[in-house]
Amino acid sequence: MAKYDNKSFDYKWEQKIYKKKLHINKYPFDQVVSLTNKFFKKQKIKNKNEFALELGCGSGNNLNFLREFGFRKVFGIDGSKTAVAIAKKFIYKSNIKISNSDFIKIPFKNNFFKLCLDRGSITHNKKENIIKILGEVNRCLKKNGFFFSIIFSKADQLYKDKINKKKIIKVEQDLETTFLSLNEVKKIYSMFKIVYLVHELRINKIDNIKKAMWIVVGKKK
Ligand SMILES: C[S@@+](CC[C@H](N)C(=O)[O-])C[C@H]1O[C@@H](n2cnc3c(N)ncnc32)[C@H](O)[C@@H]1O
Repeated sequence: MAKYDNKSFDYKWEQKIYKKKLHINKYPFDQVVSLTNKFFKKQKIKNKNEFALELGCGSGNNLNFLREFGFRKVFGIDGSKTAVAIAKKFIYKSNIKISNSDFIKIPFKNNFFKLCLDRGSITHNKKENIIKILGEVNRCLKKNGFFFSIIFSKADQLYKDKINKKKIIKVEQDLETTFLSLNEVKKIYSMFKIVYLVHELRINKIDNIKKAMWIVVGKKK
């Protein structure tokens, strides 16, 4: 695994998820659609030369949507070579480019993107790396560009299981994951102007499992 030394990417995504054909999503996530609708006017984006980047594009499920919405070019990066190969096959719109890269060094120039999207991706990195990654996002965003970030909260069941040292049964419990409190979110994202911050808690009343995420929208200052 030497080629992944000094990087932030957790290689378990490659070995235990994508190589086993898990997490192959086809459709855009509900929060991605609703946030894009809320913060961008479709026609305005279409008339401009605006680019979007997804960090951790996985099988590419959000990329076609962003292109269809009107971003002129859409880029996706992912640390998993298998996910990148799947996404490249799955993409059906023009002007979508996908590459195999680690978030710790985002391979794009400064002030390039109108939107950076993180739908549950940077949360799967160590906290000290997340801080570095946010610096990279800030660098690549244009002034007033948006960062949509969906990151695990400490109210999530996985966090409770982790601190209670519950036996690992599901592969998701074994992935590198950072869970944040409200104060940590405010501190870590403070380089951005936070314009939207929602704690989304979903409790399944059948098994009482809690899924809790922070939905953060930051603007480059
Ligand atoms: C929860 S999946 C999200 C996939 C997709 N965005 C979606 O909404 O379905 C997280 C993705 O982030 C990628 N990832 C996590 N940390 C990474 C890193 N440091 N560098 C590159 N990719 C990373 C994983 O390989 C995985 O595909």
